[in-house]
Amino acid sequence: MTEKENCILEVRNLSKVFDADTEREKDVLRNVNLSVARNEFLCMLGPSGCGKTTLLRCIAGFESYEGSVLVNGMERKQPGIDRVMVFQDFNQLFPWKTVEKNIQYPLKVNGIRDKAELKQRTEEVLAKVKLSGQEKYYPYQLSGGMKQRVAIAKALALKPEIILMDEPFAALDAMTRRELQEELLRISTEEKCTFLFITHNIQEAIVLGTRVMVLAEGGRIVEDEKNVIARPVTPASEGYGEIWERMHSALYK
Ligand SMILES: Nc1ncnc2c1ncn2[C@@H]1O[C@H](COP(=O)(O)OP(=O)(O)OP(=O)(O)O)[C@@H](O)[C@H]1O
Ligand SMILES: [Mg+2]
Repeated sequence: MTEKENCILEVRNLSKVFDADTEREKDVLRNVNLSVARNEFLCMLGPSGCGKTTLLRCIAGFESYEGSVLVNGMERKQPGIDRVMVFQDFNQLFPWKTVEKNIQYPLKVNGIRDKAELKQRTEEVLAKVKLSGQEKYYPYQLSGGMKQRVAIAKALALKPEIILMDEPFAALDAMTRRELQEELLRISTEEKCTFLFITHNIQEAIVLGTRVMVLAEGGRIVEDEKNVIARPVTPASEGYGEIWERMHSALYK
């Protein structure tokens, strides 16, 4: 496969200004260029306010912007089920719907009506996030970690090409966070899917990412490297300290 065929996502000269032509005008992203390879797990670090969420939202089609976002070489300005987003917030599920109905809602919206298929997809994704048998619970009956598992299941059920994750584990306790990192690592190696994952945690980026990057103000990419450390990566892995240092100094310089 050529490099071009292997490229699933391309961001070209993307710029985003909020509140243009007002006194609150904010130039958040300036000419961002980024190519992401199929099945890559790209982790993005960067100081608060540098535009990480905005970049993901532009890629998801939730924001207007200058420039282009191409998926498989085709321009994508609108949201689509080829790119789905998972957020940090525990409240990204509909509180009045059960786990099962939360997972099935976007499927139905996207034209899947067959009851057997809905059931089968729900069971399949719940098994992937280790929540088999929890279909009938409501979000208020779930822990934060379980809610994030459902949010991931909901994304997987759509069989997207790209999953955009905006600090999905940031609000979890350290133990649950580690557990979910392990699950996501396993899922990402089993799925034919590309991940863009924002985090503030350097360790998380190195454990999950096949590629890690640091953004600075304006969405400028100041560090970008392939993570070739053999998985599962731990702080004791060979090469871990060096990559951690490079990310740390790019973040705090
Ligand atoms: N809807 C909006 N209207 C106006 N300004 C916005 C809007 N959304 C984001 N911004 C501004 O854009 C800048 C980048 O915000 P963004 O949320 O992308 O940063 P971030 O890198 O994700 O930060 P954090 O790490 O804190 O989540 C900030 O200055 C923010 O105030
Ligand atoms: Mg953010």
